[in-house]
Amino acid sequence: MFVRILPPEVRSRIAAGEVVESPADVVKELIENSLDAKATRVEVEISKGGKRFISVRDNGTGIHPEDIDKVFLEGATSKLGSERDLLSIESYGFRGEALHSIASVSRLLIRSRYFQEVEGWSVYVEGGKLLSKEKVGMPVGTEVQVRDLFFNLPARRRFLKREDTERNRIAELVKEYALANPNVHFRLFSNGREVMNLPPGDPRERFTGVFGFRPEEVFDEREGIKVKAFTVRNVNRGKIYLFVNGRPIRNRSLKDFLRKVLGYKTLAVVFLDLPSFLVDVNVHPKKREVRFLKEKSVLGVIREALSTGREAVPESMIAQETETYSTELKVVGQLKDTIVVAEIGDYLYFFDQHLLAERIDYEKTGSEELACRGAIKAGRKLSKEEMEGLIRNWRKLQNPHVCPHGRPIYYRVHLKDIYEKLGRAF
Ligand SMILES: Nc1ncnc2c1ncn2[C@@H]1O[C@H](COP(=O)(O)OP(=O)(O)O)[C@@H](O)[C@H]1O
Ligand SMILES: [Mg+2]
Repeated sequence: MFVRILPPEVRSRIAAGEVVESPADVVKELIENSLDAKATRVEVEISKGGKRFISVRDNGTGIHPEDIDKVFLEGATSKLGSERDLLSIESYGFRGEALHSIASVSRLLIRSRYFQEVEGWSVYVEGGKLLSKEKVGMPVGTEVQVRDLFFNLPARRRFLKREDTERNRIAELVKEYALANPNVHFRLFSNGREVMNLPPGDPRERFTGVFGFRPEEVFDEREGIKVKAFTVRNVNRGKIYLFVNGRPIRNRSLKDFLRKVLGYKTLAVVFLDLPSFLVDVNVHPKKREVRFLKEKSVLGVIREALSTGREAVPESMIAQETETYSTELKVVGQLKDTIVVAEIGDYLYFFDQHLLAERIDYEKTGSEELACRGAIKAGRKLSKEEMEGLIRNWRKLQNPHVCPHGRPIYYRVHLKDIYEKLGRAF
């Protein structure tokens, strides 16, 4: 007798290891669930590159109290759909295997308040086993916490990459979903520090928030295929982000094709929307690859669109710029030798002096690291002239909103809000 049949929980643990191979896979599934739940805010928190801890918090519809101890069971799903129309259905999920897989290979805490309920429920699951269920007070929405991924699958755990590699994968993933969903507020925290904060905006603002550059925009539609691209040319390392019918796609060959069309030194975000009958449905959902039927003609249409598409500039951006660039400026002072306060037009601005100086250096020198090291640090007293100089330079920036690492440079309050708080009409 050599053959034995593995017990079901061992089998499902091994199967789970196939669906979820890394912390980034977990983050991807949880973000997709949040988006499926119509969240407008998604906050991702990780420590040790997600190997120790992952949390994804959202303000979506929440999970019904009767479902909370079922969602991590095999095949549990509230979503309709089938593998056949993978790229035409409304939601990301439908297989009901993500939470089940995650539950069987981690210590999982799910807290959720359904939108029609006054309180939430939390369940704690270890290696697939429900250990507790209790009431919790919380706002509407869901938080899923995943600790010690693969604690019970040591071979897999050893297979995980170094902390910074896993962290970069997660950051990259958050970027992708943020680009695909600009109307959703995304935040990423790593080891207790905020590393990304992307308030809701239009696709162009989202591009700027993610990359720190203002893109050119091309839009075209032919033969039922919509092509929208945001591009910045002549960057050091070009990169293509591709979305087909709203989903991040990682096809090598398709990206190579786009690189050829757009140029190798181009940073681009390309959205393709095409009828589902043109998309090859025979793809594995996890690999995020697509193939097109009638590929030659589809690619032809895309090439045409990208090379001759119209440029579009949204009105709101123009309005906002003129406001910032032409209005009067008065430096109010400095808080804790770190925050420069200025009155600009009808706003009170709070600038992070280090991030602002860093951005200015960055646009001059082009290198993130150099800019960061050379820039004025927090905790340095600045003269009035220095502060005015900084803000004058700020007004000339290509991207006056975020530092090279994506953190906001300033926070502003409309004077009207301050007047209101004081009971005075503005
Ligand atoms: N963040 C969330 N908000 C609301 N419901 C959720 C959330 N995450 C999971 N769920 C519920 O749990 C179910 C199972 O999730 P999952 O295992 O990812 O499968 P699928 O997404 O394929 O349905 C979902 O169908 C949904 O009903
Ligand atoms: Mg899902």
